[in-house]
Amino acid sequence: MKTAVYPGSFDPITNGHLDIIIRSAKIFDEVIVAVLVNPDKKGLFDIEERVELIKKVTNGIHNVKVESFSGLLVDFMKTKDANIIIKGIRTVSDFEYEFQMSIMNKKLDPTIETVAMMTNPKYSFVSSSSVKQVAIFGGCIKGLVPENIENNIILRVNEQKR
Ligand code: PNS
Repeated sequence: MKTAVYPGSFDPITNGHLDIIIRSAKIFDEVIVAVLVNPDKKGLFDIEERVELIKKVTNGIHNVKVESFSGLLVDFMKTKDANIIIKGIRTVSDFEYEFQMSIMNKKLDPTIETVAMMTNPKYSFVSSSSVKQVAIFGGCIKGLVPENIENNIILRVNEQKR
């Protein structure tokens, strides 16, 4: 069984992320979306909430699982018996960053392979941080994030303004 891991912060998950998950789930037997626990960085959503939001938007894709991890990605992957990392690439700067990270991960564990998937051009400008910024200043996030979590984002942004 080929298990692939799609790691990230997902604060929040965007349509770009979801597109990568859907396409990966067609290629691999199982895709584990792995949400990084970063205690130093307070996000819009806490880890449990991010996991729940991703579960909500991937509900119905039978071979997608959502989990959180802390520490090194390669260590988490060992516990899952997985050696494929999926990354989405939007820009040349994404490529440079991911290229370095893939070499570091390979140094840490030579059995690891990173598979880079090119973004759907519809979402090449979408990032979690830009979605947050647009939402904070009252802009429209329709089409940038899955429809069924739009309100969760708007509500949370408004809560944090108070
Ligand atoms: O969505 P992001 O924030 O770009 O995702 C970054 C992530 C989670 C993929 C990356 O920070 C990561 O893998 N962190 C775990 C720590 C690790 O394994 N570092 C070694 C590779 S440099």
